[in-house]
Amino acid sequence: MKRYHIAIMHSGGPAPGMNAAVRAAVRLAIDKGHIVSGILNGFPGFIRGDIINLDWMSVNGWAHTGGSELGTNRDLPDGGEYYLVARNIEEHKIDALLIIGGTTAYDGAYELCRRRDSFPSFNIPIVCLPATIDNDRPGSDLSIGADTALNSIVEAVDKIKQSAVASRRSFVVEVMGGTCGYLALMGGLATGAERVYLNEENVKLSDLMHDLEYLKTGFKKGKRLGLIIRNERANDVYTTDFMCRLFEEEGGDLFEVRQAILGHLQQGGNPSPFDRIQATRMAAKCIEYLIEQAEETEPESAFIGLVGGSVHFTRLDDYPRMVERGIGRPKEQWWMDLRPIAKVLAQPGPSTEIEVNAGN
Ligand code: F6P
Repeated sequence: MKRYHIAIMHSGGPAPGMNAAVRAAVRLAIDKGHIVSGILNGFPGFIRGDIINLDWMSVNGWAHTGGSELGTNRDLPDGGEYYLVARNIEEHKIDALLIIGGTTAYDGAYELCRRRDSFPSFNIPIVCLPATIDNDRPGSDLSIGADTALNSIVEAVDKIKQSAVASRRSFVVEVMGGTCGYLALMGGLATGAERVYLNEENVKLSDLMHDLEYLKTGFKKGKRLGLIIRNERANDVYTTDFMCRLFEEEGGDLFEVRQAILGHLQQGGNPSPFDRIQATRMAAKCIEYLIEQAEETEPESAFIGLVGGSVHFTRLDDYPRMVERGIGRPKEQWWMDLRPIAKVLAQPGPSTEIEVNAGN
């Protein structure tokens, strides 16, 4: 068997579980007799040639640490920089590439494949492993990091609810996710939010007026807290600040309104057991795939994913047709089907008063 040189890098925002995926990939590849390198700080590091050897012990302790030891960012090569990437692949004799990350990992991998005619050194197998808290990668029901981020959201919102109930307040909580509403919807479902605003649905002024009336009626009947979760890109005009001011002004003496923008605590934290397990599982399959493809004269490239609980590869050529142009999120988002459930759960029960629902 030939001994291959597999390079591993990140691209995209930090996601808990990135390190766990690298660790598993490194050790499994070494165990199969291959050589592994780490490309530091994403594509800019690839352009500069910041490539280090990764041995068994260099990834020691990475399984449970948040952040990204190799470094990650969203920069992509531009123009002549593709030549520098090609040269580094040649100089370091890289036979296969694993890119663990979010949107730019996939965009970058696709661009390398597209340039194979101009740069023959891009003719190596490339595989993308979804790692982004946004959970917005095509070909996968879940991406690494989303579970940990969701846990962080639930933990933070549970505390915010305790503060709210103590002082008859409504909170508008802003969560991350870019243009993908996964964290907002699932966060809303898990914390019992009355309303979730998503970029996918767009927010209209009439929605805000309707929700305002709902809050007013509830507080008149003795409701003690209100909880609204807003995706950070739900609407560029109706910002979190705008919503809070509107509800505060119109709520009068009935209730006060506060905002909580959860921010980067969602990107950090040690990966949950689920994220660690899935990162390891997918990394193992990626290494197998890369070795298999490296044997071929015309190797394929792909992105891995979890589909219906099983690991699945989709050819990288299919990437553009699976995402919404200009937005980047997948055309198919399974979790959108859960919206009616979120709406039903947000309603007060037939025999219970609204405050019981809000306090749940
Ligand atoms: O892509 C992950 C993400 O956390 C998004 O949810 C968020 O919009 C963005 O990164 C924040 O970017 P930055 O860390 O550059 O502020």
